Amino acid sequence: MIKYITGILLLGSIVCAQQFEYVGTNKCKACHSNSKKGAQYKVWKETKHAKVYDLLLTDKAKQIAKAKGLTNTPDKAPECLECHTVGFGAGGYEIKNDEFWNPAKDDRKGKKAVKRMENLKNVGCEDCHGPGSKYKKKKTMEAIFKGEVNGSDFGLLKVTEETCIKCHNERSPSYKPFDFAARLKEIAHPFPDDMK
Ligand code: HEC
Ligand code: HEC
Ligand code: HEC
Ligand code: HEC
Repeated sequence: MIKYITGILLLGSIVCAQQFEYVGTNKCKACHSNSKKGAQYKVWKETKHAKVYDLLLTDKAKQIAKAKGLTNTPDKAPECLECHTVGFGAGGYEIKNDEFWNPAKDDRKGKKAVKRMENLKNVGCEDCHGPGSKYKKKKTMEAIFKGEVNGSDFGLLKVTEETCIKCHNERSPSYKPFDFAARLKEIAHPFPDDMK
């Protein structure tokens, strides 16, 4: 009985996870690099969010992991990857270790998979805006922008303080108090006024 229920729950979570998939930050680059429209990709690239994966390769990270008693190095530890990649544990970034690859996907171990994983490193667009597989089409994006359809029906989430606190919380080994309004300004990448 318990096995049966677990099976249904597992199936349920797989179906949900597949509805909207993480595509990787590079998939947003082509359409969001135009400076007349705010060049969101370029602005993001200059923020610390675009470099947080590499923090896991530092000596400091290794010390933190050791002090926590982790047996994996930080770049292989779910306890660290959760906040230093896109969508870890939710169909996004996975550790390159057979246990973590999803056998239902084609080419998971081939070049495409490696490229996808590369683009799911760091804190990317989809950590805040939601998995992009359904909303990234031009027609869909324009319809959302014009208010003709609801972004959330396509996986595009509203960004709130909760979005940030998923990571900016006391479970971060180097937590600093988080002032939402002030921090939001530091990562702002709005459309120019003439688009609104
Ligand atoms: C094929 C081109 C294309 C791709 C790929 C694309 N976008 Fe867009 N996006 C647009 C267009 C077009 C708009 C509407 C505004 C405009 O004209 O630039 C838009 C609007 C948006 C908006 C504002 C929606 C609103 O409520 O007004 C967000 C947020 C956004 N995109 C995020 C993303 C993210 C994140 C990705 C990658 C997962 C992505 N986009 C990929 C073309 C694209
Ligand atoms: C750390 C969180 C975060 C990340 C990472 C992030 N965004 Fe945003 N984005 C926001 C917030 C907050 C807003 C403003 C509120 C809103 O529109 O929901 C926003 C707004 C936008 C808008 C609409 C601008 C407007 O004036 O309405 C676009 C387009 C956009 N982001 C695209 C991107 C793209 C493309 C990336 C990746 C290259 C990205 N964002 C990465 C949080 C983020
Ligand atoms: C998926 C995890 C994650 C999410 C979601 C996230 N952040 Fe971050 N953020 C980080 C990490 C990790 C760093 C550390 C970067 C560093 O120290 O180099 C960081 C750093 C920052 C910094 C730079 C701090 C500094 O010392 O310069 C700002 C500002 C920031 N985040 C704002 C936000 C805001 C605002 C949101 C929500 C709209 C948000 N973050 C969402 C993980 C996240
Ligand atoms: C709950 C989310 C979260 C988890 C889990 C997490 N981090 Fe971070 N990490 C952050 C955020 C957010 C920052 C930016 C500092 C802050 O405001 O907390 C950060 C910053 C860092 C920094 C740079 C700051 C510094 O002090 O040099 C390192 C290194 C780091 N993390 C390593 C790790 C390691 C190693 C692990 C696993 C043991 C880990 N992180 C787990 C969210 C997280």
